[in-house]
Amino acid sequence: MKGLILAGGKGTRLQPATFTMNKHMVPILNRPMILYPLETLKYAGITDIMIVTGGDHIGSIAEFLGDGSDYGVTLTYRVQKDAGGIAQALGLAKDFVGSDSVAVVLGDNIFDYTTFPEKLPEGVGSTHAFLFLALVPDASRFGVPEFKDGKLVGIEEKPKEPKSNYAVTGFYIYPPNVFDIISTLKPSARGELELTDVNNWYVKNDRCAHHLHTGFWSDAGTRNSLKEVIDWAHAREF
Ligand code: DAU
Repeated sequence: MKGLILAGGKGTRLQPATFTMNKHMVPILNRPMILYPLETLKYAGITDIMIVTGGDHIGSIAEFLGDGSDYGVTLTYRVQKDAGGIAQALGLAKDFVGSDSVAVVLGDNIFDYTTFPEKLPEGVGSTHAFLFLALVPDASRFGVPEFKDGKLVGIEEKPKEPKSNYAVTGFYIYPPNVFDIISTLKPSARGELELTDVNNWYVKNDRCAHHLHTGFWSDAGTRNSLKEVIDWAHAREF
């Protein structure tokens, strides 16, 4: 399985820090944010990793991580020229992933990965996608799953009235056909290729497994969520 860290985007919610710094280099205590998704993949046993990032300040990420050998991984880099959405960023990894499966982590998502499941459900990575869900107090900030009779039936991106109290977190596993699905997407109202549209393809085609992540999880992309992550990291001496 290949690994992918999506570290593009504009980082507008962390301005002014992100005027001169890639969002994923913003420190969480003494460690740049990008080390957390890197370690999440490494913990899952994935060491062949591509980092997709925007053209702005890409140098600092490459300078910090280099070829990855200091961190026990092998790194490849790719530039996402415009921040055209998470699914567009994933699409850039098509040749890198080839006929393998791919585990994707959003660059601002911080997990207590020690609670990840030890085994993947049947079919994940070959025919099925795998989503990690988490219970949250503010679901409308996220992709929100809808359940009927306990079955996942759809996902809405940042709904005003969420149909559950769960969020789709930024850790996903896909089979190689994910790139065919991305090639059929149209930009959303906010002008982005949405990963939620990709995930809905797997849901509608009955090829979407999910796991309820009960350990710590947060994005670190806003002032408040960054503080939450810093407090967690401090308490855990991470
Ligand atoms: O944190 C989980 C949430 O992440 C999910 O619940 C949502 O379904 C998903 O859309 C996403 O929502 P956000 O609005 O928080 O995503 P954001 O624009 O902050 O992007 C998250 C990461 O994805 C960011 O750290 C870098 C990467 N990214 C984003 C965009 C828009 C890219 O690599 N390229 C992009 O064009």
